[in-house]
Amino acid sequence: MKAGLYISEKNVIVGSLEKPTLNQGEALIKVSAAGICGTDMMIYFGKHPRAKAPLAMGHEFSGVIEEINGESTFKLGDRIVVEPTISCGKCDACLSGNSHVCKTLGLIGIDFHGGFAEYVTVPLHRLHKIPETLSDDHAALAEPVAVGIHTVRRSNMKVGDTVVVLGAGPIGLLIALTAKIAGADKIYISDISPYRLGKAEELGFIALNGNEVDVVKEVMEATNGVGADVVFEVAGNNLTANQMIHACRTQGQIVVVSVYKQPPTIDLAAMHFRELSLTTTRCYSHSDFATAVSMMASGKIDVTPFISHQLSLDEIEKGFQLMMNPDESLKILILPNK
Ligand SMILES: NC(=O)c1ccc[n+]([C@@H]2O[C@H](COP(=O)([O-])OP(=O)(O)OC[C@H]3O[C@@H](n4cnc5c(N)ncnc54)[C@H](O)[C@@H]3O)[C@@H](O)[C@H]2O)c1
Ligand SMILES: [Zn+2]
Ligand SMILES: [Zn+2]
Repeated sequence: MKAGLYISEKNVIVGSLEKPTLNQGEALIKVSAAGICGTDMMIYFGKHPRAKAPLAMGHEFSGVIEEINGESTFKLGDRIVVEPTISCGKCDACLSGNSHVCKTLGLIGIDFHGGFAEYVTVPLHRLHKIPETLSDDHAALAEPVAVGIHTVRRSNMKVGDTVVVLGAGPIGLLIALTAKIAGADKIYISDISPYRLGKAEELGFIALNGNEVDVVKEVMEATNGVGADVVFEVAGNNLTANQMIHACRTQGQIVVVSVYKQPPTIDLAAMHFRELSLTTTRCYSHSDFATAVSMMASGKIDVTPFISHQLSLDEIEKGFQLMMNPDESLKILILPNK
């Protein structure tokens, strides 16, 4: 079968893999749509510690069940979306019901072949059925939507709060969208890409261009010198890791979502004098993922504005090129069977 394969640093090719055979408890999925994510870019740049070439990347994907090996409530032909986390079931986090922070958490598309291929095998317990009202293309975004839901659920955000989101990438925008649904009053979102700031405005947020204005000053002026109730850091650099502290109100909350390429240097003293609390987030729970599917199906979360490109598997290299320019792309879907 055809697969988009990571071969070596900055080298993704359209190659072939043996069509996978099923182990007990697995389903064979014919992939409909798979999103390219920042983590795939990390693999592409040869910077991911676990990814081993040749690898079909892609952990945000939907498809159709072609074969099942084992007892299941799923049927052949069911449309499904994959929750790609694979936990050990034995560590303290797993045993206390928090398998998303498993000590050895793995991901389909990093530790195993993923969705940039015509077919992939997936454990049956990682599948969510796609409701009738949700398309396969949109369902492929359930994973990043679940990140947004998990992040807002981990925050103390309350109805009427002023929220700042630093970074208007797919994850920042989805957090802002979830915060809006959860009742935030004013939502400020910063970026340095005019295209992404335009998306933010389209979605009803107050856009701040970090190249043109002092983001902290703007937030302070807009809140009468008070600061935001909750700041989400989703841009992942040293500058924004410091803005998060100074844009937050006394006794407010900072939520770090970013995965930093280099550890940032931040001023803890500026946090402690104002009793700021800091929360970090990772992935999503099974329930967050199910909620993502449900809220997309009900239309509460519409991902239409997030999809900037839909490409065939043959165009995968172009997808990775487009991802390098935030001013040209947001969420790129690979459609392996089109
Ligand atoms: N916690 C988790 O489980 C989880 C899940 C997914 C992604 N992430 C992380 O979240 C972050 C965002 O993910 P994404 O997919 O949206 O990435 P992305 O790279 O598309 O988005 C980051 C955005 O930050 C913007 N940016 C860069 N410098 C900036 C600045 N000085 N001020 C404001 N904005 C700036 C970029 O233009 C870009 O739009 C990444 O660090 C990613 O690794 C974490
Ligand atoms: Zn991802
Ligand atoms: Zn575990």
